[in-house]
Amino acid sequence: MEKIISLCKRRGFIFPSSEIYGGFSSSYDFGPLGVELKRNIKEVWWQEMVQLHEQIVGLDAAILMAPKVWEASGHLSAGFADKLVECKKCHKRFRFDEIANSKSKIQNLKCPECGGELLPPRKFNLMMKTYVGPVEDESSIAYLRAETCQGIYVNFKNVLTSMRLKLPFGIAQIGKAFRNEITPKNFIFRMREFEQMEMQWFCHPKEADKWFEYWKERRLNWYINFGVKKENLRLVEIPEGERAHYAKRQIDLEYKFPFGWKEIEGIHNRGDWDLSRHSQFSGEDLNYTDPETGEKFIPYVIETSVGVERSLLAFLVDAYEEVKGGRTTTTQATKEVEVVLKLHKSLAPIKVAVLPLVRNKEAIVKKAKEVFELLKPHFMCQYDEVGSIGRRYRRQDEIGTPFCVTIDFDTLKQEDVTVRDRDTMKQERVEIKNLPDYLKEKFRSSL
Ligand code: GAP
Repeated sequence: MEKIISLCKRRGFIFPSSEIYGGFSSSYDFGPLGVELKRNIKEVWWQEMVQLHEQIVGLDAAILMAPKVWEASGHLSAGFADKLVECKKCHKRFRFDEIANSKSKIQNLKCPECGGELLPPRKFNLMMKTYVGPVEDESSIAYLRAETCQGIYVNFKNVLTSMRLKLPFGIAQIGKAFRNEITPKNFIFRMREFEQMEMQWFCHPKEADKWFEYWKERRLNWYINFGVKKENLRLVEIPEGERAHYAKRQIDLEYKFPFGWKEIEGIHNRGDWDLSRHSQFSGEDLNYTDPETGEKFIPYVIETSVGVERSLLAFLVDAYEEVKGGRTTTTQATKEVEVVLKLHKSLAPIKVAVLPLVRNKEAIVKKAKEVFELLKPHFMCQYDEVGSIGRRYRRQDEIGTPFCVTIDFDTLKQEDVTVRDRDTMKQERVEIKNLPDYLKEKFRSSL
């Protein structure tokens, strides 16, 4: 993890938030490459869930919602609280489930930091509170949403009628969520502010099991299709008693991080929990009437819910490779360890690097800039003329750029360039006029 964290900082993926003020409790800022990677992850998720699925539509609901929403959803009660324990001696606080299992007795546990005695566990609600308007009193309390899907449930009827949908159908949303986590940790794995990509699939209760299986498989395959190694993924059935308060059935999709197997996505059968509770609390009838049979019922919901940053961390960890002694085959081969980020081509923050072989030859630099201008409208490109060509290849490998285009002396005579593939390191001559189509085909065929 230290290597990943250092790469993220050094190459502009992720910075600690408010760093010049000493940082701010587990908040992170996404730098120029991090923001591209994040955008790409969200883009391929949206493509998979909305664009390729005619039965799923998108939504972008507000972060601040009527506080009653959170009473109805159960998030203001004990169901959405972590057990917290405090050390009598050093006063450090821990999540109970991180230092014990459900059968552990507090008397038998010691502080993991100083070995001191622990105070009895207490419940700690994770909702982030704020005030709306100028007066800070009970009546102005509001909450930052703890999951994006509540915006979907309260808009169920609006979407159903405005889009003239029929069951089964889904509503997808990407957006920020906030949780007052007791122990945010493991870099961007557990934070207080994060983004979720959630899809709620509304179906007939009798079909919920079938759809659960469908979405479980489909979500697992999404990671594999975007390059995550199969052996680093697993599905874990969560037993009753350990499930989220709304879940009739829950499967956690876990990734094998350097700090252990951890959840990156949850697949939940939420039954009629949310729509029934919102019906009850709002007084609005959220039943669905089957247009063919006339049957009236509250649909069941199958949910797929993934954190953008958690999946980003999994994609990064999985793509990270070190080659001892260097991978360059030229005379510049180095004894250093070379890093290659083998990100899926669709996820790579920079798609193409344009590199003039030398920078002291005006005609080569001019031609390289022309090639850069040609490619820029089609791909996220980077122009780099500083350092030896071997060093520049290595810089691009380290951030996962799939293709490097080199402009050399032959280019001036033949109007062609060398295209180097990040993974195979094979080099091919391609005519400049064919370059955009050649590269587009390479990206297309990686899907
Ligand atoms: N709507 C269901 C829901 O929110 P969850 O299992 O609590 O379910 C879903 O969260 C996903 O959101 C998690 O699998 C994780 O990827 C992400 N997530 C949850 N809490 C997070 C946190 N504190 N920091 C980063 N990501 C988080």
